[in-house]
Amino acid sequence: MSTITLDITNSLKGSGNRGGIEKKAVNKTASELGRYNQALWKNPYGFMELPESRFQFDIIKKLAGRSKRQKIKNLVILGIGGSSLGTETIFDALLHPFHNYGSDIRKGLPQYFILDNIDPHTINRIFDIVRKDLEHTLLVVISKSGETPETISQFMIFKKLMEKSKGFRERIILITDQEKGILKQIADKEGYGVLNVPEGIGGRFSVLTPVGLFPSAVMGIDIDDIAQGALDMSKHIRKAKYTDNMAIALASILYLMDKSGRNIHVIMPYCGRLSGFADWFRQLEAESLGKNSFGPTPTKAMGVTDQHSQLQLYVDGPRDKCIMLLYSARERRPIPNTFPYIDSLDYLAKKDLNELFYAEFLGTSLSLIEAGTPSFTVLLNDINAYSLGALFFLYEMAIAYLGHLYTINPFDQPGVELGKIYTKAIMGKAGLEKQRAKADRTLSAPKTVITF
Ligand code: PA5
Repeated sequence: MSTITLDITNSLKGSGNRGGIEKKAVNKTASELGRYNQALWKNPYGFMELPESRFQFDIIKKLAGRSKRQKIKNLVILGIGGSSLGTETIFDALLHPFHNYGSDIRKGLPQYFILDNIDPHTINRIFDIVRKDLEHTLLVVISKSGETPETISQFMIFKKLMEKSKGFRERIILITDQEKGILKQIADKEGYGVLNVPEGIGGRFSVLTPVGLFPSAVMGIDIDDIAQGALDMSKHIRKAKYTDNMAIALASILYLMDKSGRNIHVIMPYCGRLSGFADWFRQLEAESLGKNSFGPTPTKAMGVTDQHSQLQLYVDGPRDKCIMLLYSARERRPIPNTFPYIDSLDYLAKKDLNELFYAEFLGTSLSLIEAGTPSFTVLLNDINAYSLGALFFLYEMAIAYLGHLYTINPFDQPGVELGKIYTKAIMGKAGLEKQRAKADRTLSAPKTVITF
């Protein structure tokens, strides 16, 4: 049984969907990527080497083992964007959906808090929970640059709190650049446990580094299985033809959809456990490809929930979307014949929720075909550490290929950096006086406002 299947039938013209793209266009784009792929593996990007190198796995395991001995009950992760979304994806997929709701559910694992926002309301509430048991709290601070104001300010707050507990230094881990940044400076001075983001790997491509793997190891997730899935996918991805290489097929479809006016890419998992993955992909596609006035707009919808919120738009709205369906459902839940006196419920009674889920997925696919909205499906036979590792690597490679097709650098994010600079300037950071003056001018311009 295959681990992952990519079914592009309904994205092709003729074979299912009149809104689809011509097969010969796919052949042309895929051939170009096939040639590029051969050259790429001779001089791979940093993230492509991660499944093989298992960067810092020994230290990850050592520090995760230490946290077990420390009987950690609260895992607090500070990080944002690429520094948090990978971990959120892994936890969503592999931990109990109500993990934090009770010690019997957690089975001895810590409860976790991923703080990827700085709204003081949330921070204050978590602060209240964590302060009750600081001696069993592990603080993990993740920032590749080590300079991101959101993460650093959170660290400034939480370090002060942690200081109140004995031996707190043993319960703070920093994950950052090996050479530079404020976080590295702090680590050097204060002597915390440190893990690194390898050189040349940006936030959104860092899930297979300590960024995503250390928190996973603390939660007892098998990081070797994640790496193995990625490694096996990387072997699959060495092939040149798109019919043998699903990353080439995926990138070709996403590219041609965008070029044919289907620039809104909806990722729609039919699997609650892949909700985090959809968020992770949304960042990966948006931040990597949104450059030079081009790039698709990724958006997320959850099957079946958003059938009752978004599907109307996808079926009957502007012809600017393609839908990437993710499907995985194996668990069963029988539907009892609870109301035998209602004949019209016969179609549900004694069936299984899994059957209904699949029927809903097919119902969505069929309505999209009928409407001429192209879609394609990524089918996961099972969701586990191995398949998740493979999935991460598949999408990272597809985005790297897309960078080539768009002739842009998929690894930088000048737009994000600009926002960071203005934030720092407004907060009064020395050296950013010019940006501060510019911000003041823009913000003091006359406004059009309506009040109530
Ligand atoms: O993908 C990226 O590079 C960004 O989303 C970063 O991860 C995000 O801005 C956080 O940056 P840092 O990890 O440097 O704190």
